[in-house]
Amino acid sequence: MTVLLGVAFTLLTLGSCWGHQPDRLDQEPELAFQPSKYGSLWPLPQKVQISEVSFKLSSSSFRITDAKESAAGPSCSLLQQAYRRYFEYIFGDVKTQNVNKGSRKGPAELLELQVWITSPDSECDGYPTVSSDESYELSVDQPVSVLKAPKVWGALHGLETFSQLVYEDEYGAKSINATSVSDFPRFAHRGILLDSSRHFLPIKVILSNLETMAMHKFNVFHWHIVDDPSFPYLSRTFPDLSRKGAYHPYTHVYTPTDVKMVIEFARLRGIRVVSEFDTPGHTQSWGKGQPDLLTPCYAGSKPSGTFGPVNPILNSTYTFMRQFFKEVSTVFPDAYVHLGGDEVDFTCWKSNPDIQKFMEQQGFGQDYRKLESFYIQKLLDIVTATNKGYIIWQEVFDNGVKLKPDTVVHVWISSSANSEMSNVTASGYTTILSAPWYLDYISTGQDWQKYYKVEPLSFNGTEKQKNLVIGGEACLWGEYVDATNLTPRLWPRASAVAERLWSAKEVTDITDAYSRLSVHRCRLVQRGVPAQPLSPSFCPHEYKGV
Ligand SMILES: *[C@@H]1O[C@H](CO)[C@@H](O)[C@H](O)[C@H]1NC(C)=O
Ligand SMILES: *[C@@H]1O[C@H](CO)[C@@H](O)[C@H](O)[C@H]1NC(C)=O
Ligand SMILES: *[C@@H]1O[C@H](CO)[C@@H](O)[C@H](O)[C@H]1NC(C)=O
Ligand SMILES: *[C@@H]1O[C@H](CO)[C@@H](O)[C@H](O)[C@H]1NC(C)=O
Repeated sequence: MTVLLGVAFTLLTLGSCWGHQPDRLDQEPELAFQPSKYGSLWPLPQKVQISEVSFKLSSSSFRITDAKESAAGPSCSLLQQAYRRYFEYIFGDVKTQNVNKGSRKGPAELLELQVWITSPDSECDGYPTVSSDESYELSVDQPVSVLKAPKVWGALHGLETFSQLVYEDEYGAKSINATSVSDFPRFAHRGILLDSSRHFLPIKVILSNLETMAMHKFNVFHWHIVDDPSFPYLSRTFPDLSRKGAYHPYTHVYTPTDVKMVIEFARLRGIRVVSEFDTPGHTQSWGKGQPDLLTPCYAGSKPSGTFGPVNPILNSTYTFMRQFFKEVSTVFPDAYVHLGGDEVDFTCWKSNPDIQKFMEQQGFGQDYRKLESFYIQKLLDIVTATNKGYIIWQEVFDNGVKLKPDTVVHVWISSSANSEMSNVTASGYTTILSAPWYLDYISTGQDWQKYYKVEPLSFNGTEKQKNLVIGGEACLWGEYVDATNLTPRLWPRASAVAERLWSAKEVTDITDAYSRLSVHRCRLVQRGVPAQPLSPSFCPHEYKGV
């Protein structure tokens, strides 16, 4: 395998030249490359056995087909499109491929991968959910390999695994070893958060990120779509929100068509799109297009001209939220909407005499957390009425707001994450973890190791509590991220999170991980993803720019 040899050789030759980096001691250790018995699979399947029997694959004869017995036939365009995608990933640009054809006699040729959806309802036309069956079984053998999955979601993952088993031999020809895989995710919710408010993210960069997510079996795109700096979501009901709150009313907005495109592109890759509309804080941009929504702040006895969080004491606020979230519930098909609720600054509320009066009437004393809870409680009722479930940042739970039993609490504060995970699950709520995975914090060196070593269930709690952890998300906040640097900053650092959330708990061998990840990263580069390097080394097919 030229890929493996290349990386190994380079590490050996450069081993003595790690110079000019006085602060290396703070960093994760450099690791030595040894070919893994799992090849370059990433994330590692639950059960996999790769034999030493290898077959050739050629673009002119290899086919991906529907098994006769499959519940999803040619009319399932989700699968047909995936076959085409993976054929192209496996063989690259077919025009330049045939050079090697027939140049070598020897191993038998693998001719066909049959895809067999085994349950009567393939879910081909549905949306993935938190309880989707993502399992699959793959048997690579000659002349016919079989990929079996109850639903299309597992088939998508199995196709990715199949494509990762293909490698180039020393003559540049494609080979694959006889292999058997039985696979399913450890956690149901495996997400990436992108922030399109601090910087506008063009649709193209969002779509290519979804593509890369699918290569890692990530299944949730958490779209932190609006925030203080800008409101790019074009609302049909309240068009002034983006007209006045986006960085630019035409070029820096997501139209209803754009949003639809993102959702469908994600669905075709087994990815849910969970939108976040964070309130009552983080809402400066909302105020520009919706008068009276935000609280006027006071300087002494006069309004200062600045505004704080959403004004929780006006009926008009709730009328607005009711209409707004009604729209959101129809635009985004996912069963959950993320309602934020983090980092509410009370200074402005405290300065406002009307708010003070309201606090007194309600008997809240000086406890502004009670006012926040008053607002959130009403918002949760509004969203419940749209038949959606909700995800909220941990503060909402911390402030004692009454939550529906199926609420998902999103834990992000890293200093107390273990204690918070214990508390949230002890109260019976499901939870997702992001605290250790804020990928917008950067450092040099192999920081992926830090993300890799996280064990989401390391908190104190009963088995029942641990079962309430449905997964986690890697977050890439957008203060210093736009289309120029998003992909290399996220990948392959987020790849570490992908394996932690998919693979078995026991998969913790960091040296084996490094060996697989090095080759996986080169595969990303070969597929056109500008994923940043892990260490001094080279890829057989370097990134060529766009
Ligand atoms: C695949 O087969 C080849 C040829 O027998 C062998 O050298 C290689 O180690 C195998 N790959 C893996 C990952 O087992
Ligand atoms: C707001 O609505 C409540 C409940 O419907 C009502 O009692 C109250 O008078 C309203 N306040 C204003 C200022 O309209
Ligand atoms: C969890 O609950 C305990 C007991 O009430 C409390 O002492 C601790 O501060 C809580 N942890 C967090 C992160 O809020
Ligand atoms: C678990 O609880 C024990 C005993 O109360 C404590 O010493 C330990 O630090 C806790 N571990 C974590 C990860 O919170």
